[in-house]
Amino acid sequence: MRTTTKSARPSHGFSKFLCGLFAGGGLDVMTTALLTALPPPPPRARVLDFCSGSGTIAAALRAGSGGGALRLHLLDADAVALHAARRNVADARAHVLSDGFEALPRRPRFDWIVSNPPVHNGLQADFRVLRLLVRRAARRLRSGGELFIVVQTYVPLGAMLADQPKLEDVRTLSDDGRFSVWAARKRAQGGGGGEKKAMAGKRKREGSCPVL
Ligand SMILES: C[S@@+](CC[C@H](N)C(=O)[O-])C[C@H]1O[C@@H](n2cnc3c(N)ncnc32)[C@H](O)[C@@H]1O
Repeated sequence: MRTTTKSARPSHGFSKFLCGLFAGGGLDVMTTALLTALPPPPPRARVLDFCSGSGTIAAALRAGSGGGALRLHLLDADAVALHAARRNVADARAHVLSDGFEALPRRPRFDWIVSNPPVHNGLQADFRVLRLLVRRAARRLRSGGELFIVVQTYVPLGAMLADQPKLEDVRTLSDDGRFSVWAARKRAQGGGGGEKKAMAGKRKREGSCPVL
């Protein structure tokens, strides 16, 4: 297990909130766990804040990036939350109203996807959005891109991530017994599969040559 510690407390820097938003538009305890565990994003990283709510994760990353000029994209299914996100992270590249990845354009691909996704529907555990995120993340990440998710520790996210053939290096960045922050990386493309394709192409070309 790799553990990352940061001394500075994360902050999104918002001064105004809209009523009725997740955590009242403030910095939720799980979101704080996630932000505290994250490594610094690469300079100019293209980051998707998936289930962004009012934009807390994107804003805190921007505030902590020391002018790293992150290219931020925010996505949420709640129009009011996204309205707040547009105000809170006005310089983001995109604010997308979307159920899961549904309305998100296929390009660009991301260096990072970061999320504090919903795992409840009312009082019932409901992993629909989480499962969707885990299943679809790889095709939205660039090769070598990273996925970071915070969940309550009881959620079997490690097993869900380990089930994804296009993800590797599944690990917990932090676990305090209540909340776990998980990370996984998209496998580099062009490994064994690329070699196989190249060999198949070579055989095909050779097969079509006249035999002298
Ligand atoms: C736990 S809150 C996290 C909000 C914010 N990222 C934070 O950390 O403060 C989950 C967010 O997921 C959004 N959400 C719920 N279902 C969704 C779906 N199907 N697609 C996209 N976003 C969804 C909610 O509107 C809510 O803003």
